[in-house]
Amino acid sequence: MLPDDLTEQALHQSVTRRKDRWERESRGLVDPPLPSDMLQPWEVWDEDLFALEMIRVFGRSWVWLGDTEDLAEPGDYITGRIGMQPVIVIRQDDGSVRGFLNNCRHRAAALASEPAGHCQALACPYHAWTYAIDGRLLSIPDMNRMYGQGFPMEEYGLVPIRVKVAFDKLVFGCLSRKAPPFESWIAPLLPRYEKYKIGSYRRYHRELDEVYPINWKAFVENSNDDYHVRFVHRRLNKVRKQMDTVVRFEGRTTSGYKPHAESFDMSLGRTDLNEEDLRGSYAEFVYPNLTPLPYASQLIMVRVDPIAAGRSRLFSRIYGLTEEIALQNRELDGLALTNKEDTDMVTQLMENLRSPFYRVGPPSVWEGRAQHMMRLIRQDVATPLDADEFEGPVDKD
Ligand code: FES
Ligand SMILES: [Fe+2]
Repeated sequence: MLPDDLTEQALHQSVTRRKDRWERESRGLVDPPLPSDMLQPWEVWDEDLFALEMIRVFGRSWVWLGDTEDLAEPGDYITGRIGMQPVIVIRQDDGSVRGFLNNCRHRAAALASEPAGHCQALACPYHAWTYAIDGRLLSIPDMNRMYGQGFPMEEYGLVPIRVKVAFDKLVFGCLSRKAPPFESWIAPLLPRYEKYKIGSYRRYHRELDEVYPINWKAFVENSNDDYHVRFVHRRLNKVRKQMDTVVRFEGRTTSGYKPHAESFDMSLGRTDLNEEDLRGSYAEFVYPNLTPLPYASQLIMVRVDPIAAGRSRLFSRIYGLTEEIALQNRELDGLALTNKEDTDMVTQLMENLRSPFYRVGPPSVWEGRAQHMMRLIRQDVATPLDADEFEGPVDKD
């Protein structure tokens, strides 16, 4: 056990104390008449709060890591991160997929650093400890000379994590053994997602991957804000009936639905979905860091990976039915433009969220999803992980 002043609880107390001091000293210049649960300046730039989020939010969440197109054969792997924790998912000889922390048990080195690849075994690049694809530690160079007799090899295998292959395609990982199964995690979206047949969508030929000077929660807030869309993404106004937006949030998911203009059809001739699903589009969110935008003919996935309090990576892929590169490029370029419109806006916002005397205003009805997410994040940040958070099997999903 750590001494008390080094625990996450103490970190939470010091973050809270700083927030209270900030609130007390800077109070009065802005006097908000209405309460607001939206992202506050003090939550954006605090590195201690960021460290706490990496444990208490990402330690208990399902996070999207990639897809099975990179996991066709035994030994195929993908790497990724759950918050700041690197992980690796590998296809096994028996066809199952298993996930592990992507940390060598010796000195933390990554066993694989490519986003995807193939291996017979995982040999650490630092001191060459070597692991089987099922995680067992196979060998330590000069073991007897380095460690003497009786080194507990079997206790130094890679650390397993929970993995879920959803819709026969998308790979998610979870560190906690107590978090609900993935199906419960996305329960409000599940029945509709099962109908899209995402398993038949293919990954478009390139992805978008950029780092921005943005706090990950600022991106979450923007992604769950249906109010800015008709102003920041004006070019989409002619294809969407923005004013008919339907905002939904439940559990760890949110959904903002916008019907398309009559002239605009993205159904690609499909008739096996509900009228609502064929005649409009959804901007959705899966706590804590995934924005899926599902259509009858494609699925856009945008994930925000925290890097530091003021820095995040935005990683986007599109899956769909078209194999035409020109069509794929059109969709990818459209997404790049949308991402740019959002990140330009939020980058500007980030600097203004340093304003020490400012307090944010109340959420509009169309920011209900964002408020919901901010509440979930704060609730997790205030709740320590359970003592047995990491006890139990990983293969129950
Ligand atoms: S860090 Fe992997 S063998 Fe030393
Ligand atoms: Fe946006």
